[in-house]
Amino acid sequence: MRRKLIAANWKMHKTPDEARAFVRDFAPLVANQNRDDIALFPPFISIPATIEAVAGTRIGVGAQNMHWEKQGAFTGEISAAMLICIGCSHVIIGHSERRQYFLETDVAVNRKLRGALEDGLLAIVCVGELFEERESGLTEGVLRRQVGAALREISGQDVDKFCIAYEPVWAIGTGKTATPQIASDAHAFIRAEAAKEIGDEAASKLRILYGGSVKPENAHDLMSQEQIDGALVGGASLDPKSFAAIVKW
Ligand code: 13P
Repeated sequence: MRRKLIAANWKMHKTPDEARAFVRDFAPLVANQNRDDIALFPPFISIPATIEAVAGTRIGVGAQNMHWEKQGAFTGEISAAMLICIGCSHVIIGHSERRQYFLETDVAVNRKLRGALEDGLLAIVCVGELFEERESGLTEGVLRRQVGAALREISGQDVDKFCIAYEPVWAIGTGKTATPQIASDAHAFIRAEAAKEIGDEAASKLRILYGGSVKPENAHDLMSQEQIDGALVGGASLDPKSFAAIVKW
C-alpha cells in the first residue's frame, strides 16, 4: 500500500508573514489527519518561517527548486545541501513552469534528482504533456521521454526517496482537471515507463502524484483512484481552509 502525499506548491506566493499566518490557520484543521503525508512548498525566502511554524506538527516543508551541485559559482542558485541545513525535507524538481519559462531540460532534471537523493531530500519530479502534445497524440511519447530521462541511473533502492508528479500542463491553473480516468491511465503508463529504469518491484512502490487544478470539489474522486498516490496542489493550496479540505478528501 502506497502512502499518499498531499503537497502544496505555493509557487511565487506568500511572504514569511503570510506563510506563518497560513500555518497558524491550517495546522489545527489537519491536526487529526494521519492518513496521508502533508508537505508545504513555499518560495525560498519563506521556508525558514514555515519550518518554524510547523514545528511539532507532522507537516513537511520543501523547496520548489534546487541546484544539483553542493556549492560553487552558480549565481542565484541554492543547493540541496543548503536546503537541508535549514531543515527542509522535500524538494520539487522539473516543474513544468521551470521547464517552460526557465528552460530546464530533462538532463538538468536528472542531475537535480541525483543531487537530491545524494543529499537526502525527498524529491517530487514533475512530468506532463502540453495541450498541443495531447491533441496531437503525443502524450505517451512525452511522458516516456521525461520519465526515462529523469530516472536515468537512479536505483530502485531509492524508490521511497522520490515521487513523480503527473501534471498535464493543460490542467495547471486552468480549472481544467484531468478526469480520474485520464489521470489513472497516465499514472499507469508512467509506472510502466519507470519500471524500465528502476525495475518492476521498485516501480510498484513508486508514488505518483497528480497535479493540475486539484480542488476540494474534485479531490475525493481523484484521490480514490488506485493509481493516484497523492496531489500536488497550486492555486487551491493558498487558502488554509481549501487546502485542509483537500487533505481531508
Ligand atoms: P494548480 O493547482 O493551480 O492547477 O497548479 C498545479 C501545479 O502546478 C502544482 O505544482
